[in-house]
Amino acid sequence: MSNLIVANFKMHGSHAFIEDWFTNFNQNKTNSHDVVVALPATYIAAFRDYGIMLSGQNVSAYESGAFTSQISAEMLKDSGADYCIIGHSEAREQLNESNESIREKFDQLKRMQINPIVCVGESLQVKETEKTKDHLRNQLSVLDSETEDLIVAYEPIWAIGTGLVPTEKEIDEAIGSIREIFKKPIKVLYGGSVKASNAQILLDNTDINGLLVGGASLNAQEFAKIAQLC
Ligand code: PGA
Repeated sequence: MSNLIVANFKMHGSHAFIEDWFTNFNQNKTNSHDVVVALPATYIAAFRDYGIMLSGQNVSAYESGAFTSQISAEMLKDSGADYCIIGHSEAREQLNESNESIREKFDQLKRMQINPIVCVGESLQVKETEKTKDHLRNQLSVLDSETEDLIVAYEPIWAIGTGLVPTEKEIDEAIGSIREIFKKPIKVLYGGSVKASNAQILLDNTDINGLLVGGASLNAQEFAKIAQLC
């Protein structure tokens, strides 16, 4: 199974910044077939012909209608997105998203042949009370265990943007508990404080199939270094 390296720009950038980023990234990378860049939705259409697969960062749970502010899976497809992140902990918390709404989003994306990247992960409190496995199972319980070609991103909330990274054993335990939910082989990415300096170790020493990179992805050269490892 080939590794997938995903950049998550979150709410950063501008047209000029992203244009520079793509130029810089293309000069530095040696291989881009498994690289995906999750741009703010307003920029996806403008960068669809830059030779790199693009992702949304969220999608509506509804097909269309009176949902002011929301973006449908069909609109993302029309803009050129191949992937879409759903269930990111920031969206779960800031937009009050439930597991059930994430399931609806998953179905909307599948209907439009967009690959969902389903994010899960525990808070520090859940980790400290040793409930990580139950928490991950609960977050993923809304998905059919027979799902094909599933991509899950394991992102412990306490590791996002903090510089803290779980031990290899902790990552493998969490990922093992994710894999055992599903009957088919799935891709599991790790995300949370990934940098060029720790990406190789994570890819070599844990049972992951790729990385979801936030802060470090905004530096095109650093992200190109990470992308070359795949
Ligand atoms: P980070 O973010 O790499 O800045 O920790 C990862 C993410 O939130 O996807």
